[in-house]
Amino acid sequence: MKILENSDVSQLLSNINWNFPQSKTSEGIHSIHPYPAKFIPEIPRYLIKSLPIPEDTAILDPFCGSGVTLVEAQMRGLKSVGIDLNPIACLISKVKTQDLPAEFLNTAAHCVNFARKGFELTGTRDIPNIDHWFDPQIQQSVTALLLMVNSIKEVAIRQALRLALSSILVRISKQESDTRYAAIEKDVNQDDVFEFFTVACRKIAKSKEQSSSAKTPVKIIERDTLGTKPSAIPWPIGAVITSPPYPNAYEYWLYHKYRMWWLGFDPIAVKEKEIGARAHFFRKNHHTAQNFKEQMEGTLRLIRSVLVSGGYACFVIGRSKIHGKIVDNASIIENVAGELGFKKIERITRRILASRKSFNLSHANIKTEEILILKK
Ligand SMILES: C[S@@+](CC[C@H](N)C(=O)[O-])C[C@H]1O[C@@H](n2cnc3c(N)ncnc32)[C@H](O)[C@@H]1O
Repeated sequence: MKILENSDVSQLLSNINWNFPQSKTSEGIHSIHPYPAKFIPEIPRYLIKSLPIPEDTAILDPFCGSGVTLVEAQMRGLKSVGIDLNPIACLISKVKTQDLPAEFLNTAAHCVNFARKGFELTGTRDIPNIDHWFDPQIQQSVTALLLMVNSIKEVAIRQALRLALSSILVRISKQESDTRYAAIEKDVNQDDVFEFFTVACRKIAKSKEQSSSAKTPVKIIERDTLGTKPSAIPWPIGAVITSPPYPNAYEYWLYHKYRMWWLGFDPIAVKEKEIGARAHFFRKNHHTAQNFKEQMEGTLRLIRSVLVSGGYACFVIGRSKIHGKIVDNASIIENVAGELGFKKIERITRRILASRKSFNLSHANIKTEEILILKK
């Protein structure tokens, strides 16, 4: 590989227009399940393309969310590792990056046929406040489908079926929309549950068919990044490409709360460990920017121990508003990284599309985010 000076890499990066105004976050494989604050695929794509990533190394995303970095790495034939606390994030990432056996749609049809018969149900799951959000008839159909889906032995098929079910839960609930947490009356019946599920399965099958079939290995680790040991990362890392959670901005656990309850996970445990969750900023002894600094220090220490010498660490992050004050998260990361011995290669400001902003970012009138490129 041609050796590039730091100034050449910096020049290469600053020649790219990182705004990508035409980009879509929910096309092809990224349309199979909603996820808040997804990367636009061009960001990891152009970072992977432009950086001289050391040979025989893998890409790491320590906050992989819906796996956009992992898919981009796979498209370029690179191994990758994703870490995320949120089990729905990990399920999406797995389904996007692993092969889907040919029997998937037949298995989906078999699950629907059995669930439709409404065999003897032993009651719905013990989910808090379930009747407020799901009509009892709908609960029955979901329970019947889940029983069938969870009994499927082939792991990749079972995971894809669980993801299809997860993707329709807001639509068949009384929740107004993915981002509006009001209960409203909806005209949805039991047949719709099976119909929407079938359509979601077909969508997964179609997008998998269209995505690359030569799969390079991807390892997904479902846990708190701050509690992850370097030994859990199976390959030397040549580049980290990540968008860490913003303090007091998005609430991933809340967005997926009922999906997690239904699929047998514990959203409250996720909330406790979720970096930046608003809940931590509105309680006694609430979190401050100092907590974020310590969380990023923990993340950078993990990165430093798994990144090869000369490897890159790229962070995409905007500002937050904490108790009325705007906090420059990129500068927090840049300063901690400097203390830990990383070298700054470039810091680029890009515009955030209005449609991608969370309520909190819009409220704080935040229109840009930063791409920070560091080198070990
Ligand atoms: C900005 S999102 C990442 C989105 C991702 N780039 C994508 O394209 O979908 C930040 C992620 O950090 C995760 N997260 C928050 N706290 C975490 C923690 N302590 N350990 C691991 N992941 C965490 C959230 O679950 C969320 O998926």
